[in-house]
Formats: sequence, C-alpha cells, structure tokens
Amino acid sequence: MKKLVNFFLLVILLLEITISVDSQNPSLLKFVLQWPPTFCIGLNSAAPRGRCKEPILQHNLTLHGVWPADQRGYSITCPVPQDPNWNKLFTRTLENQLMAFWPPLRDNAHKWDLWKHEWRAHGACGRTTPEVYFNTAVKINNMLQKGNLFNYLKTSGIIACDSLSFARKDIVDAIQKVFVSTPLTVYLTCIPIDATNKTHIYLSEVTLCTNLGGTSFISCPLPANPTSCSSGARIMLPHPKPQ
Ligand SMILES: *[C@@H]1O[C@H](CO)[C@@H](O)[C@H](O)[C@H]1NC(C)=O
Ligand SMILES: *[C@@H]1O[C@H](CO)[C@@H](O)[C@H](O)[C@H]1NC(C)=O
Repeated sequence: MKKLVNFFLLVILLLEITISVDSQNPSLLKFVLQWPPTFCIGLNSAAPRGRCKEPILQHNLTLHGVWPADQRGYSITCPVPQDPNWNKLFTRTLENQLMAFWPPLRDNAHKWDLWKHEWRAHGACGRTTPEVYFNTAVKINNMLQKGNLFNYLKTSGIIACDSLSFARKDIVDAIQKVFVSTPLTVYLTCIPIDATNKTHIYLSEVTLCTNLGGTSFISCPLPANPTSCSSGARIMLPHPKPQ
C-alpha cells in the first residue's frame, strides 16, 4: 500500500514537472501590433508622463514586439540575457528594415531602445539568437500582403475618425482578411477613453500569432485571449492628441 502511494506521489510530481516545463516552452510567436495614437494617450496619462515623437504616426499599426508564447498563448518569461554586440547586430540594412514597421514612438528614446528592450524582455526567452529574432520580425511583417495591417482595416472602412466606432467583430473580420483562406483567432486589446465612458473604448493592440519559425500564421490560443475589448462597447481608433 505504501509503495502504491509513493508511486502515485511520484506520478503526480512528474506530471507537475512536465506541466511547469511545458508552460515555459515556447511554442508560437505573438506578433503584437499597436495603434500609435492609443499608445501615446497611454504614455501621456501614465506617471511619469512620457511624450511621443511628433508627428505621431497615424497611418500604420506599428510593431510593439514579437513575443514567444507557450501553447496557451501566455508570453514566456526568462532571466535577462547578456547583451549582444548591438552595433554589430543592427547593420544599416537591418536597421532600415526594422524602422519601416517597428519604429520607436517615445520622444527622446535612442532609435534602438525599443528593439533592445523587446529582445531582453521577450525575444531572448524564445531560445534563439538576436539575429534570428529580428530577422523573423522582418519575415512576419513581409507576410502582410498589403504592407501594413492598417491597410486591411482601411479597406473595410475601419479608420481613425471621431464620428466612427466599430463592433469588435467588424475589426476582427477586417483583420482576418490577412489570412486569405482560414479565419484565424487574433487578440485585440483596448483601453478606456476615460473613467466614466462605458459605451466607447479605444483600440490599443492587435496580436497575430505565427508558428515558432515565423513562417506561417496560426490561431492565437484561446486561454490567453485578452478581454479588454470584449465588453460590447464600441471600439474607436483615436487621432493623435496634442501633447
Ligand atoms: C507604413 O507602413 C508601410 C508598410 O510597412 C511603410 O511602407 C510606410 O512607410 C509606413 N508609413 C509610415 C508613416 O510609417
Ligand atoms: C463616450 O465616448 C464617445 C466617443 O467619444 C462619445 O460619443 C460618447 O458621448 C461618450 N459617452 C459618455 C457617457 O461620455
């Protein structure tokens, strides 16, 4: 009897180890895009107040980062890695490629700060090299046939206009045109317009998911699907506000 109990304890222990290892196993990439005006509103209202670079981009959704995630869609965390040789990494060619879709939005930031931060906080947790990480971002961006996600929204009439608001489904349907044949799950995140407005919210980020190699889009897993745009409130894309 004692042996049997020990055996079961061992099984449970092994199961727990497997589960905890699994949950830190990168199994996909999240390609997290942001709507710059919403980012800037957030930056402006947080303490200490930051500033966005002027003019604030309003014709593109720009990349926030590429985040390795587990099979449930949760981002992988890891210890901060040793820095690579940034000067060697960010060649003129790579810098130009990244700047086109992954620009820094903060004023006074060094032009590489966002990329360095994303590598340290996320990229390095994907068990890959910085070279592979940044080139994978370029590769995924190139899979957007219309060049930028905003162009998919625009052709469906989803634009930044103070008199227009959209249902969550309208926005998701427009984004799913990226995938041509199968409508894959994407994540949306939103922020409140202000403390009192319950009927309207601002679109903040759109996440597309890919396989680990960044060679094909896949459905973002449901367990980690954010709920900030799911209230039934109408979603708006804000214009840049004067800072
Ligand atoms: C918007 O994105 C497209 C495609 O990535 C790029 O060619 C264009 O320069 C971008 N526009 C701005 C204002 O950044
Ligand atoms: C909420 O925001 C929308 C869009 O700006 C506006 O039309 C609406 O009147 C606001 N509602 C309240 C209660 O402030």
